[in-house]
Amino acid sequence: MPAPPTSPLLHPLRIGTLTVPGRLYKSATSETRATDDGFVTDELLEFYEPMVRAGTPLIVTGNLYVSLQSKSAGRQAGIDGDDKKPGLREWVDLAHSGGSLLIAQLNHGGRQMVKSAAPDKAPVSASAVREPLYGIKPRPLRRDEIPGVVETFAAAAERARDVGFDGVQIHAAHGYLLSQFLTPHTNRRNDDYGGGLDNRMRLLREVFRAIRTRVGDDFPVLLKLNGTDMLPLRRGATTTELVRVAKVLEDEGVDAVEISRAHYESWPGMILGHYKGFIRGQITEGSGMSMTRRRRLAMLAAAPVIEGVAERLAPGSEGFNLPQAEQFTARLDIPVICVGGFHTRTGMEAAIDNGRCDAVSAARAMIADPYLFKNVQDPLPGHPVCEYRNGCIARFGGKPIDCYVEPIRIQKNHMLQKTEQA
Ligand SMILES: Cc1cc2nc3c(=O)[nH]c(=O)nc-3n(C[C@H](O)[C@H](O)[C@H](O)COP(=O)(O)O)c2cc1C
Repeated sequence: MPAPPTSPLLHPLRIGTLTVPGRLYKSATSETRATDDGFVTDELLEFYEPMVRAGTPLIVTGNLYVSLQSKSAGRQAGIDGDDKKPGLREWVDLAHSGGSLLIAQLNHGGRQMVKSAAPDKAPVSASAVREPLYGIKPRPLRRDEIPGVVETFAAAAERARDVGFDGVQIHAAHGYLLSQFLTPHTNRRNDDYGGGLDNRMRLLREVFRAIRTRVGDDFPVLLKLNGTDMLPLRRGATTTELVRVAKVLEDEGVDAVEISRAHYESWPGMILGHYKGFIRGQITEGSGMSMTRRRRLAMLAAAPVIEGVAERLAPGSEGFNLPQAEQFTARLDIPVICVGGFHTRTGMEAAIDNGRCDAVSAARAMIADPYLFKNVQDPLPGHPVCEYRNGCIARFGGKPIDCYVEPIRIQKNHMLQKTEQA
């Protein structure tokens, strides 16, 4: 049955100066479709074209590296120099051709990077805490280097505004650099960027202020934050702390916040669902290809146990970040977007109708079904439905983003052929 015009998914939402014509968005997904040196390609644009055609109201790009040192994965797109502007402009033009708003996600990977992404750059972080998944041991950022990092975010935001993006999203979730500073486990500094929460959020505040100064008050700046760090037995930032970070950033002038979860080392991390075959996919076709042979063999040997535990601990469910997101919604006046497991109209509408968040976003469900925005309203017969088998994320950094569950991919390609012909 088509969604009635009263569906909250069709209600406009104000985000800063934007009026977004709906409440189901595409969350950031690193595309692995740029050139090796981070330029936009036709292959990258092809991934977005059907989402635009489906009228997706707001699309967040995959995380864009703001400097070479901040690059974290193979074939990641960058926004680190003016030479990237023509390709980025094409991306914006594509989104605008179908009426979608396009938000550039700005990121510094910190210790969560594969060495081959930027072989000449030493990985940096808040402190020298090894990242156990890829085995990267970062060096702590020196205090005198921090203004340079802040500047790379500000310059990237200015480039985004110059080429016509509708806003930027600061990536402070998932254990990347800004999240590494927020989290006590990865931030063991004893200068004024470490210790208490005010110090741990100093870098994020400086990044926000620098961006705001550079792009002006009328350019939307969004934030992606964890609602939980998912670091049992380690010192993660608590949800109460993360809500406070959002509140402080709201007072500083952030326009909306999207709530997700986890670091790379959380395991099971930001994606719940099925894990069978995940590790083999990661080390043979994903970012894990760059791990040492020893690490790959060890992971392969441990795979049955690790995958079994992950599958049991983290069964997929619709709106799995809602318990945290609603705590942000209760404290904030700016819109709260919740990501995590959304794939049905009823699940999305309930989250909004029950006041748990203002809008929802989807990553894996959009990869399987780029027509998701249309299909939750008025489903095309035989449209693909994500089963959360996680092949897409296992292969990130190695193979172009896509659904790697063969029957679903076939359904998707069939649907795209039919909609293109129509
Ligand atoms: C292939 C893939 C790539 C991703 N890349 C990013 C990224 O670049 N930036 C980001 O903030 N989140 C990234 N994510 C996480 C999603 O935005 C989202 O937070 C997470 O997948 C949970 O949403 P879902 O259940 O709708 O997939 C990625 C997820 C997938 C599956």
